[in-house]
Amino acid sequence: MDLFQYRDGQLFCEDVSLDALAGEVGTPTYVYSRQTFETHYDKIARAFEAVDPLICYSIKSCGNVHLIKLLADRGAGMDVVSGGEIHRAKLGGADMSKIVYAGVGKTDEEIRLGLDEGIGWFNIESEAEFENIASIARSMGKTTHGALRVNPDVADPNTHAKTTTGKKETKFGVDIDRARQFFAHYGKDEHCRLTGIHLHIGSPIYSAEPYVLAIRKALELIDELRGQGYTIDTLDIGGGYAADYETGKSPDYAQYAADIVPLVAGKDLKIILEPGRTIAGNAGILLTRVLYVKLGGRKKFVIVDTGMHQLIRPAMYDAFHFMWPTNVAPDHLPDKRIAEMPNPGLDLVDVVGPICETGDILAKARKLPPVARGDLLAIHTAGAYGMCMASNYNAMPRPAEVLIEGDQWRLIRRRETYDDLTAAEVL
Ligand code: LLP
Repeated sequence: MDLFQYRDGQLFCEDVSLDALAGEVGTPTYVYSRQTFETHYDKIARAFEAVDPLICYSIKSCGNVHLIKLLADRGAGMDVVSGGEIHRAKLGGADMSKIVYAGVGKTDEEIRLGLDEGIGWFNIESEAEFENIASIARSMGKTTHGALRVNPDVADPNTHAKTTTGKKETKFGVDIDRARQFFAHYGKDEHCRLTGIHLHIGSPIYSAEPYVLAIRKALELIDELRGQGYTIDTLDIGGGYAADYETGKSPDYAQYAADIVPLVAGKDLKIILEPGRTIAGNAGILLTRVLYVKLGGRKKFVIVDTGMHQLIRPAMYDAFHFMWPTNVAPDHLPDKRIAEMPNPGLDLVDVVGPICETGDILAKARKLPPVARGDLLAIHTAGAYGMCMASNYNAMPRPAEVLIEGDQWRLIRRRETYDDLTAAEVL
């Protein structure tokens, strides 16, 4: 579900015409629908409400402070992975006690920041890291909570190799055997109290099954640890819930919840979820303008004013992003967003960016309505891992970000300038 819909052949976000918007703010621009973003959060909260979860929005998926604020105002916690994300969470008005902090390489400075800010949980990734957090907390006279990240050795076969994390051979967390020893060594520490178990098996995960397998293993471990006298009051089941890159491809929240909730209900555990993509993904598009149409051999290239520097997912993960012109004739209206569009009269093209790399491809061998210089394309499901992974490669300023609220829009990040590119350089 999202609010990027055609009216009389023109694409709107909520009640704002994207052609009109592009006329005012230019392109490329990330455009977010407030209502879609909030509705996704509300839906996941409702689906899991039987276990009264703490939903920690994964800031890494889309971290604009204005978006963080929308969810913080709804009572969401935040999932962070760096000092920079703690800073963003704070600016967005998040409740620090609802923050979970993961990541295998937390620096001393970041750990001190987390302790100073009184974040809720450190998700612990290794023995060495635990010792460091506990010793920094001790030296600061602080106490914090730790959730041990356990690697349950399950994976979704549909998850890309670069984003699967649940298998034994990843850098994340510790396996179940090591988890037992972990508690034996550190389970009674006074400064970092190990009271939680954390799971995150990958992203995106296209069914509830891998979660179920992972949670079962975690619950067995929790029973065992409780039997040995450890207090385990929190189970963080991570993120990774899918977003519809193609219409109807991902399960809805209720389908995940139907399998997960009965497993964890009544276990006297605080349940934490860390969704990112499923909230932000379809709440945002990347609006781009066609610069040139070019024939190369038997191929037709549509060259646009954005590329791998601003949406790296196709180049990095061979990810599919549906894209379509913002202005279309009636027989080209897309009633679904799928890879193989059935409409008549489509062109077969590669949509590419301006970056000086052959891999700068946004869509390969894609069927699109014929486009010409100046036309606008909307690249869908770009809200998650879009802007946050954008770079200044080839000295390209990063796009503007706009938030749509009904028939209003507001700039939530201005377009970068050439001066921004050199601002941090000591000239
Ligand atoms: N929790 C942890 C510990 C994570 O590592 C992640 C994502 C999440 C939560 C949120 O996952 P989500 O609900 O957004 O799927 N850049 C890649 C995705 C990398 C995901 C990294 N971790 C992409 O564009 O597909």
